[in-house]
Amino acid sequence: MQLRTLGSSGLLVSPVCLGTMTFGTPVAEQEAIALTHAAIDLGINFIDTANGYEGYARYLGSAGGVAEEILGKALRDRRDRVILATKVAAPLGPGPQDRGLSAVHILRELERSLKRLQTDVIDLYIIHWPDRHVPIEVTLQAMDTAVRQGKIRHFGASNHSAAQLCEMLWLAERQHGPKVVSSQIPFSLLRREMQHDLPFCQRHGIGVTPYQSLQGGLLTGKYRRGQPAPAGSRAAEKPDWVWKRDDALFDRIEGIEALAAEAGIPVAHYALAWTLAQPAMSSLVVGVKRLEQVQDAVAAAQATIPPEHAAKIDAICPPPWRLPDPVRG
Ligand SMILES: NC(=O)c1ccc[n+]([C@@H]2O[C@H](COP(=O)([O-])OP(=O)(O)OC[C@H]3O[C@@H](n4cnc5c(N)ncnc54)[C@H](OP(=O)(O)O)[C@@H]3O)[C@@H](O)[C@H]2O)c1
Repeated sequence: MQLRTLGSSGLLVSPVCLGTMTFGTPVAEQEAIALTHAAIDLGINFIDTANGYEGYARYLGSAGGVAEEILGKALRDRRDRVILATKVAAPLGPGPQDRGLSAVHILRELERSLKRLQTDVIDLYIIHWPDRHVPIEVTLQAMDTAVRQGKIRHFGASNHSAAQLCEMLWLAERQHGPKVVSSQIPFSLLRREMQHDLPFCQRHGIGVTPYQSLQGGLLTGKYRRGQPAPAGSRAAEKPDWVWKRDDALFDRIEGIEALAAEAGIPVAHYALAWTLAQPAMSSLVVGVKRLEQVQDAVAAAQATIPPEHAAKIDAICPPPWRLPDPVRG
């Protein structure tokens, strides 16, 4: 796979990043370790986790830590082969300091993540969601402290708009602190709300690492209109993690499937290749349950979408509205 730059970090990452949200359940520890090793052997050098990930067992406020523990074991003898990203902000308990982006929570959680991941340093520490109760200045100062202590190398954001990223860049300059280098956003053919933020990221050295580019498996061809979810699929095992499959959604999915067939590639490859071709894309954070799914994601990174499909895709899955450009249309 052709490596890509991760924003202004100076890091080169594979266009596919291993997502670990399902480590714990349905991907049990030994399978997760084997999948991680296989992914690295296939050329994936970028792994995404979060302090809250614990597979299907996750609920709002549960203690998390499971995926990080598993990754710590998986990477014990190959830590230097990967760029390791983890996240902070998720609620992990009932207390006021058990969540969010205060300096107390961030710096406490960082220590816990380092321990679980069995590493001295996290390459990319990601702010999982904005926290409206904490001034961004405070969060950025905590990131600065962590960089100066050598406990993180870079920090990124997730689920932030371009306006929020812009404020971070502006404050970093004022505070003489580190700049945000990446943005992890929900983005797929079926979910294009943040499309118009991408050029901002491209102009300002923020590498985009979209998540759910397969929309939780909806863009893999496994779900059929009017039929129950196939056994072993996410929709069968954990229905609240997959969108409700109604006729309007199937209209779009089937439209994309027809274009993939026209291009002569599997729909999962088509969905991932389209996402990767958007501006500012550094690496797709892909969730996997089996080795074939990792292999599929790696193969998709080589696929291309015929240029004449752009307008057809827009007709099926329109980009979000924006002010018309009176100069260029
Ligand atoms: N920053 C955030 O707020 C945030 C939020 C969500 C996720 N994430 C990150 O993004 C990663 C990906 O999220 P996700 O797993 O929800 O979304 P996804 O990548 O769109 O979907 C992954 C699921 O699709 C199915 N799948 C994958 N490849 C397939 C293939 N080739 N053929 C058939 N089915 C296939 C598998 O489910 P089944 O086989 O079980 O059907 C797999 O678990 C997570 O692991 C996490 O690292 C971040």
